[in-house]
Amino acid sequence: MSYYVRLMRKEDIAQVTEIDREAFPIQWLPVNYEHELQSWLAHYIVACDDSEMGEESEVTVAPEKGTYRLASRVRQLFNYDHFLGSELPPSGRQYILGFAGFWIMADEAHITNFAVRKVHRRRGIGELLLISIIDLSTELNARNLTLEVRASNTVAQSLYYKYGFSQVGLRRGYYTDNKEDAVLMSTENTTSTSFQSRLNQLKKAHSQKYGIALYQIAR
Ligand SMILES: CC(C)(COP(=O)(O)OP(=O)(O)OC[C@H]1O[C@@H](n2cnc3c(N)ncnc32)[C@H](O)[C@@H]1OP(=O)(O)O)[C@@H](O)C(=O)NCCC(=O)NCCS
Repeated sequence: MSYYVRLMRKEDIAQVTEIDREAFPIQWLPVNYEHELQSWLAHYIVACDDSEMGEESEVTVAPEKGTYRLASRVRQLFNYDHFLGSELPPSGRQYILGFAGFWIMADEAHITNFAVRKVHRRRGIGELLLISIIDLSTELNARNLTLEVRASNTVAQSLYYKYGFSQVGLRRGYYTDNKEDAVLMSTENTTSTSFQSRLNQLKKAHSQKYGIALYQIAR
């Protein structure tokens, strides 16, 4: 399997909604994701595998850093899909394995959604998405990442702890479906030497385990 990460597009919403349905007790509708893609604050990525749907496989070349930076600024100014649509490969053949999103508010990135298809879990895709979120949010000038996670969701918490998040608070009865508490988690400054050096070690271990050569987000 060869997978990679790119920015989410409108055509991905059907598959993303499928993943959302199997991952979360409280679901978002396709229209919620449409709004997210139009929001200047929100940034969404998907992990894809061409080989699952494709008749012929394509090599995706990740853009140079500068190109991506320009693309992300352009995305904030215009509707991303319309502006860059002609440069993007068709996504009909791309099978989405997982997705993640965050909002940038001042210098903080708050993770809003994060899920991997059940049948593809425990293959490093969650880690790949989290690494990509950390890199992208840092590139967009965020200095720390925060999130809420169900108190019972020890699987996700263990992934977040692995990547340097720690518990910073508790919201009692936060989830409306079962009144479960939310654990608030946050990273230290993601640009600090200590955070970056730990991240590089984790990337190296992940890359060796799953054979991923490049941690860049394709357009
Ligand atoms: C949380 C989630 C995204 C992890 O995705 P994944 O692709 O299975 O994760 P990975 O294979 O990359 O695993 C990375 C780390 O996550 C943790 N983890 C993943 N599955 C685990 C499990 N079944 N038990 C314990 N820890 C687990 C481990 O720390 C693991 O690191 P390790 O391989 O060194 O043990 C996935 O379980 C999921 O989609 N859950 C439902 C949605 C959800 O809870 N989202 C988070 C909302 S805040």
